[in-house]
Formats: sequence, structure tokens, C-alpha cells
Amino acid sequence: FDEFEFRNIQVDRHGGLAVLTVDRPKALNALSADTFAEIAEALDLLMEDPEVGALIVTGGGEKAFVAGADISELAAMEGVYAGREASLAGQDVMHQLTSLPIPTIAAINGYALGGGLELALACDIRVASGTARLGLPEVTLGLLPGYGGTQRLARLIGAGRALDLMLTARQVKAEEALAMGLVNYVADNALTKAREIAETMLKNGPIAMSLVKEAVRRGLDTTLEGGLEIEADLFGMAMSTQDFREGTRAFLDKRRAEFKGE
Ligand code: HXC
Repeated sequence: FDEFEFRNIQVDRHGGLAVLTVDRPKALNALSADTFAEIAEALDLLMEDPEVGALIVTGGGEKAFVAGADISELAAMEGVYAGREASLAGQDVMHQLTSLPIPTIAAINGYALGGGLELALACDIRVASGTARLGLPEVTLGLLPGYGGTQRLARLIGAGRALDLMLTARQVKAEEALAMGLVNYVADNALTKAREIAETMLKNGPIAMSLVKEAVRRGLDTTLEGGLEIEADLFGMAMSTQDFREGTRAFLDKRRAEFKGE
């Protein structure tokens, strides 16, 4: 990544683990159009590298994960068309993130508001630090969540809880977020905890994990019957991999599996 001059994000690699840090602390890491473009570019680049097996998304500086869409950019827009385009453009990047074949973890180290919470919702799991504050305050701006929040939050925690958060615009602390299933873990240091979780995941079969993600994602869009069919199809694909051979053989040999992603 040295040859790429990212200005609003940082991307670090440690073995199979990539960490993408949204890094505009002066604006509490708000998602400007340029920031979105860099995130999209970084995700493409990471996926070109077969060594990358897990991704953490976090925020730079002391205070925020991401405090939302860049409000100064939003304020300069007007009209149905501009609003729709801004929403769709952000949704595309969130979709790119949710569609990655590798596990993704949001390490929420402070404010995750509006588009920031939507970014965290586009990850597979969420880890909050004690200082995290999560919310969808768009209605205080005369807006609604536009990067998938109305849909992903309701699917994750149920329509009733999602409507409460979106209509009150209130901020939820880590413990309440944990209790409502909005985050998976609370830890003193979200990034440290996220790294631990990622290391655990990196030991698992990478194809199997990508199939888990696909089964859950596609299943949420269909009936139970349709979802079960998807599961069986993907199960068949898993059984045709070398990883399955290696995983079962390693178990029987009482050793750790060495998955190759084949
Ligand atoms: C642009 C932002 C920003 C944002 C903070 N800043 N959030 N700039 N966009 N979303 C800037 C501030 O203007 C300020 O800049 C600096 O970051 C520090 O923020 P403060 O407000 O001074 O900090 P503090 O008093 O600690 O308050 C923190 C905060 C507050 C509670 C997080 O900043 C806040 O409410 N931010 C907005 C949160 C929000 O409404 N997000 C939803 C956005 S709408 P200066 O230059 O003064 O130092 C959205 C829609 C998505 O996400 C869908 C679109 C299609």
C-alpha cells in the first residue's frame, strides 16, 4: 500500500489481517466523498491479495469511530436527485464491504453515528470500547439514514428497537448496545479485542467462512425454504474443497488444520 497515497484512510497489513482506519480525526472521521472513494479503492486492492483473510475497520484519533457522513458536504447539496445519488453512492461502498468474502470486524472506538454506525453495520461483527457511543441521529438533521441503516439495523436488532433508535436519535453506550445485539463484544480496547477475534477466525477454513457469509446474506433476502436450499447448495460446495479434506483429516490425526483456501 506504500505506493497509494491515501489521505483520509490508512491501511495496514499484518500477515493475513488487514486494518482499515478511517483517519480524519479533525472531522471525527466523517465520511466525505473522497473518503468513500478511498475505502472502495482500498477494498479492491485488499481483495487482489489472496493472503488477506480478515479485515478490521476502525477510526483514527481518540474520540470517534466515524461520526457520520460529512455534514458540510451534505449541507452543500439540494434536491431529490442529489440526495438519491449521495445515498446510492454510499450504499454501494457499504455493499462492497458486506459482500467481501473474508470476515470483517468493526472496532468501534468512540462515536459511531449516522453513516459511521452504518459502516459498522456493514461489517460482520462489531466490537465496542467502553467509550463507544452509537446512534442514528439523522432525523435531527431533517434526514434519514441513507447508507443502509434503515434496512440493516432493523434486520440486525428488529424493527422495534431500530425504530426507537432512529426516531429518538439517542446515543447508546456500549453495554446497552451489547444488550440489544447491536454489538457482539465490549472491551476496554476495541481494536485489541478485534485483533484477537480476527486471529481466531484466521485459523478457520477461509472458503468455509466465505460460504457462511454468503448463506447468511442470501438467506436474509429470501424465505426459510429458499434459504435452506441455499445452505444445502453451499454445503455441497464446501465438501468439494481441499480445505474440507484437510479439516477432517487434521481432526482425525489430532493436529491443527492447515487450510490453503482451496
Ligand atoms: C462533518 C463533523 C462531523 C460530521 C463532527 N464533525 N462530526 N464534520 N461531518 N458528521 C466535526 C465538527 O464540525 C468539529 O469540527 C469536529 O468534527 C469536532 O466535533 P465537535 O462537534 O466539536 O465535537 P463534540 O462537541 O465532542 O461532539 C461530538 C459529536 C458531534 C457528538 C459526535 O460532532 C456530532 O453530533 N457530530 C455529528 C453527528 C451526526 O449527526 N452524524 C450523522 C450525520 S448524517 P470543527 O472544525 O468545528 O473543529 C449521516 C447521513 C448518512 O450520516 C446518509 C447520507 C446519505
